[in-house]
Amino acid sequence: MKACAGWRRFLFFLPLIFILPHLFSVLELLQNQTVGDALEKNTAKFDDQNLALGDVPKKNGKKFDHLFLGPAAGEGLPNRLQCQGVKALNKTYFSNPSHASSIADGIAFVTVFTIYNKSPDTLVNSRSSNLVTVGNASYSKSERSMAILNIFINFIQVRMPQSNVIILTDPESDLSVHRNRVTVHPIQGEYSRDKLMLQRIRSYITFLEARLEKLSQDQGRITHFIFTDSDIAVIDDLGQMFDKYQNFHLALTFRNNKDQPLNSGFIAVRGTHDGILRAKRFLQKVLEVYSSRYMKASRMLGDQLALAWVVKSHPSFDAKRFSKAQAFTEDIDDASVLFLPCAMYNWTPPEGAGQFHGMPLDVKVVHFKGSRKRLMLEAWNLFSSSADISDMLCLILKSGRTKYDF
Ligand SMILES: *[C@@H]1O[C@H](CO)[C@@H](O)[C@H](O)[C@H]1NC(C)=O
Ligand SMILES: *[C@@H]1O[C@H](CO)[C@@H](O)[C@H](O)[C@H]1NC(C)=O
Ligand SMILES: *[C@@H]1O[C@H](CO)[C@@H](O)[C@H](O)[C@H]1NC(C)=O
Repeated sequence: MKACAGWRRFLFFLPLIFILPHLFSVLELLQNQTVGDALEKNTAKFDDQNLALGDVPKKNGKKFDHLFLGPAAGEGLPNRLQCQGVKALNKTYFSNPSHASSIADGIAFVTVFTIYNKSPDTLVNSRSSNLVTVGNASYSKSERSMAILNIFINFIQVRMPQSNVIILTDPESDLSVHRNRVTVHPIQGEYSRDKLMLQRIRSYITFLEARLEKLSQDQGRITHFIFTDSDIAVIDDLGQMFDKYQNFHLALTFRNNKDQPLNSGFIAVRGTHDGILRAKRFLQKVLEVYSSRYMKASRMLGDQLALAWVVKSHPSFDAKRFSKAQAFTEDIDDASVLFLPCAMYNWTPPEGAGQFHGMPLDVKVVHFKGSRKRLMLEAWNLFSSSADISDMLCLILKSGRTKYDF
C-alpha cells in the first residue's frame, strides 16, 4: 500500500521534475525527504581538514550528491536569520560593498594552497569515474580543489572588491591562478598532506618576516592581513574590524568548545610594524608548541590544539570567556589578541545549526568545513544567479547539516 502510494506520488511528481527544472521546485522536493537521513551525529574529527581536498575518509553516513535541505536552525529566535524555503524573511545587516571600507588601509587575504601533482585522478582513464557534478559543471578531484579556491576568490572580490588575495604555495606545485588582484607567492617547505598544518604556520611566519623586511624599507600604505582557509565565503566587509577594534595585534576566532575553542582557519594581523612583529612571535610560539606537544596530531588538528594551549596556558587567561559569544581582547605574552566569536566571523554549518542556534543577521564569514565543499559551490551558484546574499545564507543554513560527497 505504502509503496504503491509512494510510486503514485513519484509518478505524479515525475513530470514536474521535467517541466520545472527550476532550482526551487527541486529543492522543495528534496526538502520533503526525511530530514533525519541527512543528519549525522558523528561530528567528524576530520571537519577541520580543509586544504587537501578529496581526502575525507568515507564514513558510514550517507553522503549527498545533490542539494539537500533540512530545517533552518534558530527558527523563532530574535536576531537570527528566518527563512521560508530558501527565501530570507529578514534583511541582513551588511555594508554595501561599493561603499565598503572607508578606512584607507589595504586588506589582503592570505591562504595556503597547494596542488598535489601527478595524483592518479589526473590520468584520463580514471577521471570520469571520479567526477562530481555541481550545477552544470563536472569536476575531478583536482578540479574540485581549484573550484573551491576560485569561489573563495569570487566571494572576496564581490564583497570586498578593494582587497587583494595572496596564495602561499609550494614552489613544486604547478599552481597558476590568473586573476586580478591575486598573487601566488611560493614559499619553500614541506607541504605533504600529513605535514600541511604544520607547514601552514611556517609559511605564515615566513610571509610575515618578508613583510616586516619590506615595511622597514618602505613605509607606504598599511595593508592588514587576514589568513584564512580557502573554504570560506566572505559575506561582509572585514576591513571594518581593524577600525572598530583599534588596539589588537592579531585576532583569532573562538567558540564554546572545551577541547578546541580556537579555530585556526581565520587569523587577522594588523599590518603595522608592531602588529606584524608580535603576530609573528605569537605564531612562532604556536609552532614551537605544535612541534613539541602535538606532532602526533599534525595531520589535522595540531595547530588548533597548539593555539589553544598557548592561549590557555597564559596565566591571566580565563577560558570561561569562550562560553559567551562576545568579542574581547587579552594580552598573550607581548601580543594584544582580539578574540572574535566564530558565530559571526567563522560561522560553520554543522555547528551553526547546533551550537550557534542559527545564523546571526550580521554573520561575516561562513566556513565550509569538512564535507561541505559542494555547498560552497551551490551557494555561489545561487548567489551569482540571484545576487541575493540573504537567500544564499538561507540555503547554507538549511543545508548545513548535510554531509556531501565533496
Ligand atoms: C512538501 O511537504 C509540504 C508539507 O508536508 C506540502 O505542503 C508540500 O506540497 C510538499 N511539497 C512537495 C513538492 O512535495
Ligand atoms: C526577522 O523576520 C521575522 C519574520 O518576518 C520577524 O518575525 C523578525 O522580527 C525579524 N527579525 C528581525 C531582527 O528583524
Ligand atoms: C553554467 O551556469 C553558469 C551560471 O550558472 C552560466 O554562466 C554558464 O554559462 C553555464 N555554462 C554552460 C556550459 O551552460
